[in-house]
Amino acid sequence: MKKILITGTTGMVGHYIDHADWHLDVVKTTRSDFDIRDLDQVDSYFDRMDFEVDIIIHLSAETDVDKCEQDFDHAFMVNTIGTQNMVYQALKFNVPLLYTSTVGIFGGDGSLGPFNEFSPPCPANKYGLSKLHGEQIIKNHISRYFIVRPGWMMGGVDKDKKFVMKIVKQIQAGKKEIFGIDEIIGSPTYARELIQNISQIIKTQLWGTYHCTNIGKMSRYDMAEMICEHFNPSIKVIPVKSDYFDLPAPRAVSEYSENKMLGIRNLNFMSSSEDALKTYLDEISREL
Ligand SMILES: NC(=O)c1ccc[n+]([C@@H]2O[C@H](COP(=O)([O-])OP(=O)(O)OC[C@H]3O[C@@H](n4cnc5c(N)ncnc54)[C@H](OP(=O)(O)O)[C@@H]3O)[C@@H](O)[C@H]2O)c1
Repeated sequence: MKKILITGTTGMVGHYIDHADWHLDVVKTTRSDFDIRDLDQVDSYFDRMDFEVDIIIHLSAETDVDKCEQDFDHAFMVNTIGTQNMVYQALKFNVPLLYTSTVGIFGGDGSLGPFNEFSPPCPANKYGLSKLHGEQIIKNHISRYFIVRPGWMMGGVDKDKKFVMKIVKQIQAGKKEIFGIDEIIGSPTYARELIQNISQIIKTQLWGTYHCTNIGKMSRYDMAEMICEHFNPSIKVIPVKSDYFDLPAPRAVSEYSENKMLGIRNLNFMSSSEDALKTYLDEISREL
């Protein structure tokens, strides 16, 4: 029987693979199977496989936005060339490819969204650019693809390197005040719901691009308020402007997204941003 091959299974999204309803067995690959930047390693793994692949789900990426800004060669090798190396396998074995891109390909021109599959891309930073190049390579070379664009990722608990866990760690450290930017908006994306929605998308042959975020928009300040309310309501959450934090990568003013195509195809199983954050906070409470 054919199998679903997934890369990047040790990350925030990969953390929930076993919680999704797959129609075939899943093979989880990691960096120890192959480094996606190295075509020889990737070729060698795929040529030695003793099973047939039904679809490749390519989750691996460099997701550290500031690292990508400071080292574009690295971002380009992982996010663009790594994706091209997976495209070569999809072509060689004549299988479809699902690529997780990002809503971070929008907003560099100051547009406020909500962005959908037909909005013109304009990345605000090198991470977004490296992921957009990955999309372009896929579109130029294969016809049976799904490009899935999540927003501000949350999930994974011990795998979580992003905003929610950064705030939780500040709370654990005993901070009495927490600062959250209130002038930037985005659509949070609970990694658990994302991979569950992906498992449904791949049951179809409705190839194309899909935004897949939780519904609605929040600011980092809104999120910090909900996180503090959940763990310690006595903490004061203070709204600040973007320049309060001195970060290497510019951020778009908006990564607010709309799941237009999932809606049209009756494939939108994402909950509201607030409900998803609440569910994730409950998960953290259970597991920490
Ligand atoms: N995290 C976000 O904020 C975010 C937002 C929007 C979209 N996305 C997209 O969603 C997808 C999943 O992201 P995530 O949140 O799960 O990211 P993550 O937690 O940073 O995990 C990245 C995964 O990629 C693997 N990886 C990185 N470089 C690799 C390499 N050179 N060779 C092989 N594997 C490599 C990592 O392996 P190791 O554990 O060995 O490092 C890890 O399994 C990515 O395509 C990402 O661009 C993420």
